[in-house]
Amino acid sequence: AGNRTFTMIKPDAVGAGNTGAIIKMIEEAGFKIIAMKKTYMSKERAGQFYEVHKERPFYNDLTTYMSSSAIVPMILEKDNAVEDFRKLIGATNPKEAAEGTIRALFAESIEANAIHGSDSDENAQIEGSFFFSRVEQF
Ligand code: CMP
Repeated sequence: AGNRTFTMIKPDAVGAGNTGAIIKMIEEAGFKIIAMKKTYMSKERAGQFYEVHKERPFYNDLTTYMSSSAIVPMILEKDNAVEDFRKLIGATNPKEAAEGTIRALFAESIEANAIHGSDSDENAQIEGSFFFSRVEQF
């Protein structure tokens, strides 16, 4: 039991062959994988996923990058999932990410930063449902 968060391993980390190492860290940190797949977003789908950042200067680059190759979205479960997962991944900018965090270990840049983590329970639900059907979320 516990509550849930949504994550997505980003194209830089998938392309570098770090998917397995990242999943291992996630499981060792006590998260249970509820749903997972390897898939792709079109530029248009990436634009929808990052709609909240539409007015930001990095929006166009971000959606181009996120649609450039494969991603691995997952729904995860653990007590205090959203907050604990954000601790596990570290700061958005890998230069500011704490030692031992997923971004400190695997991120290339503030944009190609290896992994996403939802920032609230509400967004975890919305983002998980962007990739997974209801039956896949059981
Ligand atoms: P994430 O927090 O998963 O979702 C928003 C993404 O936008 C973030 O990861 C980064 O990949 C990207 N991002 C955030 N801030 C910047 C920035 N200043 N420059 C480029 N990309 C950014």
